[in-house]
Amino acid sequence: PLPPTFTVPLPLPSVLRPVSTVDGADRYEITQRETVLEILPGVKTPLWTYNGTFPGPTIEARRDRPVIVTHHNELPVPTVVHLHGGRTPPESDGYPTDLVLPDGWQDPMPGMHGMHGMQMPAMSDPRAVVTRQTRDYTFPMAQRPAMLWYHDHRMDFTAPAIWRGLAGLHIIRDDAEESLGLPAGPRELPLAIMDRAFDDHGNLAYPALDPTLREQPGVHEPYLAGVLGDVILVNGAPWPVHEVDAARYRLRFLNTSNARHYELEAVTYDGRRLDLVQIGADQGLLAAPVTHQSLPMAPAERYDVVADFSGVPVGSLVTIVNRLGSGRTHDVMAFRVARRAADDSRVPTVLSNDLPSWNRSDAARVRDFSFRAGRMNGGHGWLIGGQPFNPTRTDVTVGLGDVEVWRLIADVQHPVHLHLAGFRVLSRGGKPPLPHDAGLKDTISLQPGESAEIITCFDGYRGRYLFHCHNAEHEDMGMMANIEIV
Ligand code: C2O
Ligand code: CU
Repeated sequence: PLPPTFTVPLPLPSVLRPVSTVDGADRYEITQRETVLEILPGVKTPLWTYNGTFPGPTIEARRDRPVIVTHHNELPVPTVVHLHGGRTPPESDGYPTDLVLPDGWQDPMPGMHGMHGMQMPAMSDPRAVVTRQTRDYTFPMAQRPAMLWYHDHRMDFTAPAIWRGLAGLHIIRDDAEESLGLPAGPRELPLAIMDRAFDDHGNLAYPALDPTLREQPGVHEPYLAGVLGDVILVNGAPWPVHEVDAARYRLRFLNTSNARHYELEAVTYDGRRLDLVQIGADQGLLAAPVTHQSLPMAPAERYDVVADFSGVPVGSLVTIVNRLGSGRTHDVMAFRVARRAADDSRVPTVLSNDLPSWNRSDAARVRDFSFRAGRMNGGHGWLIGGQPFNPTRTDVTVGLGDVEVWRLIADVQHPVHLHLAGFRVLSRGGKPPLPHDAGLKDTISLQPGESAEIITCFDGYRGRYLFHCHNAEHEDMGMMANIEIV
């Protein structure tokens, strides 16, 4: 029983309070546990959650003020937390074998070989730091203000864990951004968009080979390209509606879908498209606003957008639609313009002036990486440079502080994500980047057959980091690689 579109109110994820403040760092506690929640009206759905909510609670952080999150694992499987977009020391970056084991966890079926031909990844990765039940993650927050998100990153099982609910927002702010006069308070809305599928009993449906997510990774054959759902959720609610003033709003879009791509448009009741004025990318504010009529968004990407409802008749709806969807997956959510209201917000023509401006000539190296389907352990896999992920192999060694140009080439769509370092898009298909490639990114959506160049600087910390496809099923099926910063 799916609800009619635009009837369920838009939930706003609760903001987590710190449990203590020590030496200028805020400490938070999150318990990962199973919960039953009502996502579809009148239907109970079991989920894996952070603190019992879906999405998890939002962490509000200040630039340069460290955040420590103590995670307790009360789920029936090991977990790993990664702060996506965080400039995080390696020991807190959520490496996929740095497992937090649940109480009493015994590795299932000794001798069984998983997808990567090893017993349990943590046991065959000598560098894994495995803890029992709890782990502290430390985030220095020495980075530009941006909307990040945290999610599970367990080896081989990231996709089903996110699908079951393990994702939440983490917003970094600073005084400079707040002084710009952008829409704020109730006129700033985080919008985490994701698709899900439900079975007849209201359970989330995911085509896992092993529904316990304990032993055998992977999905059934028809889903090797990625798992799509037929229900679109925003902040955990199906096709929600939100009442707004006839004023400017800051809409902070995030695609937390496993595999679904969107091309968002804001459409008025009479079919007019409202401008989506992009002010920020994955890694914070652009230098200057970029106006879009439609905005493509791949898994894990964030787009910070101002939409102006002041010209929309009171009482009418503005719908956010996905041009790439069909039937009910064409609809995403709606805003009902409820009243006229004063608006002293503004969108300055200069938003930031601290974007890195790396040049090709700064690059110590140019590297090529292909993202393609291939064979892995006798079955289907997704490969980077012809190889499936192996935690014990270093794929790329870079010098701390080195600038590099990476050329990425794709067979089908792959949203490629780099941990630790934000990057800029240099080119796409041999041409200048597209308007939505502006700013500092941490995920780039590669189109089929396309090659793109990115430039970045590997500064921050030495250690082991990842880059991977953020189609979460591709990621679980091998499309991940190691970077060693030395
Ligand atoms: Cu959003 Cu490696 O992750
Ligand atoms: Cu991919």
